[in-house]
Amino acid sequence: MSMLRLDKFLADMGKGTRSEVRRELKKGAATVNGATEKSPERKIDPQKDQIVYRGEPVSYQKYAYYMLHKPAGVVSATEDRREKTVLDLMKGAAGKGLFPVGRLDKDTTGLLLITNDGELAHRLLHPGKHVEKTYLATLAGPVTEEMIEAFAAGVDIGDEKPVLPARLLVRENGAQAQTEITICEGRYHQVKRMAEAVGSRVLALKRLTMGPLRLDEDLPAGSWRPLTREERKALGTED
Ligand code: URA
Repeated sequence: MSMLRLDKFLADMGKGTRSEVRRELKKGAATVNGATEKSPERKIDPQKDQIVYRGEPVSYQKYAYYMLHKPAGVVSATEDRREKTVLDLMKGAAGKGLFPVGRLDKDTTGLLLITNDGELAHRLLHPGKHVEKTYLATLAGPVTEEMIEAFAAGVDIGDEKPVLPARLLVRENGAQAQTEITICEGRYHQVKRMAEAVGSRVLALKRLTMGPLRLDEDLPAGSWRPLTREERKALGTED
């Protein structure tokens, strides 16, 4: 791996902006292989040298992986001229070139994976991989047996082909039915269009899972955290 300036390495690992890091370095906040290093220009090998910053070891990670609890009212894009984006919520996150893996509608909440690992995104989004996504959906009810059967058979939502079979699980039936819907594709407005195709309507939508990832219910809407080692392992990303 090529050598990097110490200030760039620390900034890339999310320890602050380059200028913040430089100020801290001047105060003696970092050691390289046990010796205090005040020079931001010091060249280090991120995979070999041991860097400690503000008392904590900083290990090199090639890619960054975050779970965001997307709130309503933000768009799943990296930038937008008018709207607030999910990336606007990621202030302080390490990693260059972060992007959301897939899209949730502006009014949909819940699990969104944010990363800069393009290969992982490809694996999760590839139509042939059929990665399951489960949504907590409030539907204009009541939900009928026919609806459940229609979902299981594959609903025609007006595309060239009907959608693949999906699970519709009723948690609480009524005029505002609480359901869990599991789909294995990612078509545009898919759940909303499926609900409409069976004579219902989505009143609220929250994504709970994507493949092996499950939304951490301790994570308030609008906040994020790095994926745990177990979560990264479940996604098959190397450490
Ligand atoms: N299906 C939808 O209709 N909207 C979403 O945001 C996600 C799935």
